Amino acid sequence: MSAFASKFTVETETTKLQQDTEAEVSPFFIKLDGLNDSQLKHLRDVGLVNETGYDVRLLREKHVKYLLTGLGNLSAGYSSLDASRPWIAYWCLHSLDLLDAVDDDFCPRVVSTLKSFQNETGGFGGGPMQLSHGAPTYASCLALLLVAPKCPAAYECIDRPALYKWFLAMKTPTGGFRMHDDGEVDVRGTYTVIAIAALCNLLTPELCENVAEFTVSCQTYEGGFGGEPGNEAHGGYAFCAVAALQILGKLDMCDVEALKGWIARRQMSFEGGFQGRANKLVDGCYSFWQGGAMAVVNAAEIGLSGFDSGVEEFIPEVDSSGDGVDVSKVAEATPSAGGLTFDQGLLQRYVLLCGQHVEGGLRDKPSKMRDYYHTCYNLSGLSVSQHVLSEDGVPVVYGDSANVIAPTHACFNIRVDRVKAAQTYFKDKICDHTELIK
Ligand code: FPP
Ligand code: ZN
Repeated sequence: MSAFASKFTVETETTKLQQDTEAEVSPFFIKLDGLNDSQLKHLRDVGLVNETGYDVRLLREKHVKYLLTGLGNLSAGYSSLDASRPWIAYWCLHSLDLLDAVDDDFCPRVVSTLKSFQNETGGFGGGPMQLSHGAPTYASCLALLLVAPKCPAAYECIDRPALYKWFLAMKTPTGGFRMHDDGEVDVRGTYTVIAIAALCNLLTPELCENVAEFTVSCQTYEGGFGGEPGNEAHGGYAFCAVAALQILGKLDMCDVEALKGWIARRQMSFEGGFQGRANKLVDGCYSFWQGGAMAVVNAAEIGLSGFDSGVEEFIPEVDSSGDGVDVSKVAEATPSAGGLTFDQGLLQRYVLLCGQHVEGGLRDKPSKMRDYYHTCYNLSGLSVSQHVLSEDGVPVVYGDSANVIAPTHACFNIRVDRVKAAQTYFKDKICDHTELIK
């Protein structure tokens, strides 16, 4: 019997998988100051522990190296992701941006590649000549908006009137949005349209009519949200619903207390990371889907609007030795640190100790392979739990103080400064239904 089995009175397939997962992650939680000299030397040599103490490190350079492979030529093994090329671009670019490693030279390539995925009727497909779809449209626009401050051609690449008409064409009388022509209607459709419309100043009353009503109809008896009315609550869909409602300024139309309780209960007491739904396993990607959803709710509770992030602009200050940030500008991730209603330190511990692949990239859990999706959402969750609602703009950082990364906007999941730049760029562009559909 495993050390964890005694917690459960009835053994089922689910409890066995949970015990296996706890056994899988527990070796990663050893006390680093209890290691012998050769073990410590090994962890320092691979960069996982800092040189001067016993603090876990974010493998920044290795993650950058891994992420750059996602922006180059991909091997044949990636052919099954041929309809997800904008996602790969977004996952890698946003992760690099959080690590402050987006090179100016990327921009023309990003624009020319994504332009070739854009259809004349509006929206983006997963590649050239592919059907317009909400998911690649969201990923393409975010990728463009995050490089755009370095090259405004990226803003202009988005054909706002065509995109608006396509968004309207996807809208259903119930206030939902289809993912594609004749496709499924779920809260991913809602979020992808509402987030991009907000960033591009296309949120007209016509586009928003009944959208919050559809979204709240997806809240379940557990307090989370399913993809469609009547579906099981799940972190991915809950994030979509919560962020869309907050952007619309209508989060209070749902049962916020039940929602907070549901998200809080998804943080695993042993692992510290989040699960996506009740009785399932911890997974690093939910660091953002659940952690980001809670950050949105907590920001709304103190009266912030969908465009306020609850994050001060933050540029890590390198100390005089040149290899770390000034520790006085960073708060230690103690159990009570931070303004979010989950344990921010425990979440960061899961990401750093269990999520990181020693050669770079992040993963679901130690037994899984690294991939660009999990790299993006582990880092995005890390960013949210370091920055959102931090006191006086001082981030809460677990492990080495140099683990601090750039602040992401919890509603949109691109950097806060990228959101502000997009808002400024599109502020004076036409946002009138009749004009846009001409
Ligand atoms: C369950 O997988 C996962 C889903 C049903 C979809 C999750 C939705 C998202 C991640 C959000 C998508 C967001 C956008 C913006 C398009 P599973 O059963 O393999 O995992 P589980 O065991 O962790 O539930
Ligand atoms: Zn995952």
